[in-house]
Amino acid sequence: MTIPADEDMNAPAEITATADSASRFTIRRLRVNLSQGFPRLWNGGEAFRTHYLNALSMSFPVGEQFFIDSVKKGVAMLPPARQQAWTDAVRGFVGQEATHRFLHGQFNAELERQGLRNHWQGWAAWRIRRGAKLHPRNHVAVTAAYEHFTAVVATGLLTHPNWLDGAPPDLALLWRWHAVEESEHKSVAFDLYRAMGASERRRILWFVYVTLQFFVESSLQTFINLWRAGLWWQPRTWWQAARFLFGPRGVWAASLVPLLQYLRPGFHPNQLADPAEMAQWLQSQREAYAIVA
Ligand SMILES: [Fe+2]
Ligand SMILES: [Fe+2]
Repeated sequence: MTIPADEDMNAPAEITATADSASRFTIRRLRVNLSQGFPRLWNGGEAFRTHYLNALSMSFPVGEQFFIDSVKKGVAMLPPARQQAWTDAVRGFVGQEATHRFLHGQFNAELERQGLRNHWQGWAAWRIRRGAKLHPRNHVAVTAAYEHFTAVVATGLLTHPNWLDGAPPDLALLWRWHAVEESEHKSVAFDLYRAMGASERRRILWFVYVTLQFFVESSLQTFINLWRAGLWWQPRTWWQAARFLFGPRGVWAASLVPLLQYLRPGFHPNQLADPAEMAQWLQSQREAYAIVA
């Protein structure tokens, strides 16, 4: 895609944004044990729901390492006097994403044992290599775009129990814990992008690019998973897919409007309300995690 040459003059008024995201994020160690494996159709016995979330998980370890690297590079581009203000936010962001990588790595290892093949990580790694020489403001813009996706999907997961209906408790815990932490740190990359003084136009263009890429790659990896699992041809798979994606309690109904809000100049992730379910989850599942930092 063609990104305009630097356009700092177009940067929003919030160009002086700091680590408003503020802050300190709790890093939790989840008390789940994935070493014993889990059923192939772990998500309520439904093929599409299972393999769609499997596909998302396959993208996490490579993607989240890219997010970590981008945020670190972005902060290093700020004037030294302003970097200090980002210390806590970056430490929390990195700590949360690193923990997600670790547990989804275990989850993905079980998927490999079940005979699935992770192609998405290879596609992502290839793109990251190709884009390595771009200015870090582009890496932070891509990270902010993906973080918007994860925050929107996280809200969906927390407010739509049907997305994980019938999942084993440890796996429901894994997905909801990840969702809560994505909601918590949803503004870090976005605020950093603004602090770097880059433009709204660049932010929005990268979001369009990331959106197309996400839909192509998530669809392809889901189809490959279903094909390898021998579930591709079953009509029931596609009936379940239609309900999960397009039903009244489905992914599109929950995600489309909040996703598109990112296209509006002046948008900020804090305009997406944190679901009340997030606080409830943290309270009700207090026994399920240890606070490590
Ligand atoms: Fe994450
Ligand atoms: Fe994240």
